[in-house]
Amino acid sequence: MSLDNLAQKKADFFTQGWCQFESDPSLLNWIESALPVAQSLVIDPDNAKWLRCGDTWFAGVNILPNANDGSVGSGSALGGDAVNFIAQALGLSEFDWDKAQVSICYPGYPQRMSIEKEAAFKFRRDRDAAHVDGLLPEGPNRRRFLREWHGFVLAIPLLDYDNDASPFVIWEGSHEVVRGAFESLFLNHSPEDWSSIDVTERYHNTRQKILDTCRRVEIVAKPGEAYLVHRLALHGVAPWKASQDSICKQRMICYFRPETGVIEQWLNAP
Ligand SMILES: [Fe+2]
Repeated sequence: MSLDNLAQKKADFFTQGWCQFESDPSLLNWIESALPVAQSLVIDPDNAKWLRCGDTWFAGVNILPNANDGSVGSGSALGGDAVNFIAQALGLSEFDWDKAQVSICYPGYPQRMSIEKEAAFKFRRDRDAAHVDGLLPEGPNRRRFLREWHGFVLAIPLLDYDNDASPFVIWEGSHEVVRGAFESLFLNHSPEDWSSIDVTERYHNTRQKILDTCRRVEIVAKPGEAYLVHRLALHGVAPWKASQDSICKQRMICYFRPETGVIEQWLNAP
C-alpha cells in the first residue's frame, strides 16, 4: 500500500470507524485454504446448533480451526494490506488470531425465533440488530456487562454476494460516541472493576443516540477484499432483500476479533 493510500485509510478508519481494503492476492490465497474448511463445517450436523432466526443465519462463532497465525490447515498465515494496516495504524502485531467466526445469512433473514420477544425481533428486522461487540446481555433481564475486549473486527468475505444479501451495517462515527459514553461511565472506577459494572442503561441510551444521529452505511466486499471495523463501532446485519431470482443464495463472511491487550485498551486505544 502506498503512503498516500495508508494515510487515506487511516483517516477513513479513525473518522468513520471502518475502512475497506482492495483485492489482495494474499487474502485470495488464504481463502483457498479457509473456504473448503468453512464449507465442511457448515454441513457438519454437529454444527446445526449454530443455526438461528428460523435457519436463516448460521452464527458459527469461533468455529474456524485456524492457528494463532490465522492459517488454516497447511495454508498461508493471514497477511497482506489489512494485516499490515493493523500493525501500522493500530500498532497491533504481537497477538494471536482468535478462531474466526463463520457467519452466513440465507434468503429470508431474519425470521422470528420462538424464544425471541416481538420487540427483539423487530429490532433485528428494522434496526439491523445493531450492537457493540463485547457488551454482552446476561440473565433473564439481559443486563449488560463488558465481557470481551478485542482490538478490532476484521471481516473477510469468503464468497461473492449481492449488495442486498444481508450486508454488514455500520453507523459511521459511532465509535467515538461509544467511547465518550463509556469514558464518563468508567471515569471513577478502576479498570479491574469495569467488568462488574452494569452498563445496560448507558448502552441502550448510547445506541439510541447513535441510531438517531449517525449515518448508516452498508458494506459490501468481494472475496480478496476485506474491511476493518473499529472495536467500539455500532454495527449489525441488514435483512435479506436480494430477489428470489438472484443466484446469490448465501452471504458468507469470516470475522476475526482477536484480544490484543488489556481491558483499558478497549476504551483508550486509538
Ligand atoms: Fe458484532
